[in-house]
Amino acid sequence: MKINIVGTGNMGRAIAARALTGGHAVCLIHPDADRGRAAADELNQQFPDGETESATAVQAADITVLALPYDAALEVAGSARAALSGQVAVDICNPVDFSTMDSRVTPADTSAAEQIQQTVGPDVNVVKAFNTTFAGLLTTGEGHGLPLDVLIAGDDSAAKARVAELVSSSAMRPLDVGPLRRARELEAMGFLHISLQQPLELNWQSAIKILP
Ligand SMILES: NC(=O)c1ccc[n+]([C@@H]2O[C@H](COP(=O)([O-])OP(=O)(O)OC[C@H]3O[C@@H](n4cnc5c(N)ncnc54)[C@H](OP(=O)(O)O)[C@@H]3O)[C@@H](O)[C@H]2O)c1
Repeated sequence: MKINIVGTGNMGRAIAARALTGGHAVCLIHPDADRGRAAADELNQQFPDGETESATAVQAADITVLALPYDAALEVAGSARAALSGQVAVDICNPVDFSTMDSRVTPADTSAAEQIQQTVGPDVNVVKAFNTTFAGLLTTGEGHGLPLDVLIAGDDSAAKARVAELVSSSAMRPLDVGPLRRARELEAMGFLHISLQQPLELNWQSAIKILP
């Protein structure tokens, strides 16, 4: 598959590394062409057999991952709506109020993922994924000797299957947790996981794993 990744920060690079491990072509998107190219060059050095390019705007692709802060994800969803048409857009954000670290910024009766779905409209299938995995572990795809669980919510089965294929081909375990409104619980889970880092001295090395 061809995977667009908007944002070249910690998560953008980690998801790109996973996608390349899974044999997918990656396009890193950053509004500053030099920044995008530099990130792509790094990945091409790290994965010489992989295929990483860069661009300044969303391209045609199977999946576009919005590896962006909440506000920017909403903004890009709006401005790239036409380019995203027919694609699966993956929202990975944790809309935490980082000024207080005491709540989320989304109203209780919705989620960032649902807001993004509303913004892009019905021609784009939004899937929530990767918000419960931290970038450090995601780079390798495993934690504590186990493949990471990637919890996936969305309303369209084919769109979720596409994201699940990205996850499983990258040696992690996809878990379908239900419709897009389950993103409310995933975002609450992400917030809780973040809030536990300091008190439990987890140093961002913890993972959420569903064990049968
Ligand atoms: N870090 C984690 O472990 C983790 C885990 C789960 C979920 N998440 C979520 O993943 C998302 C990204 O987190 P991160 O840690 O990767 O953040 P980050 O390292 O700060 O990277 C954010 C990226 O977004 C870019 N960006 C910001 N505004 C933009 C805009 N308007 N248009 C295009 N690009 C823009 C930034 O570019 P500049 O550098 O130029 O600003 C940067 O490349 C967040 O929503 C976070 O809640 C993070």
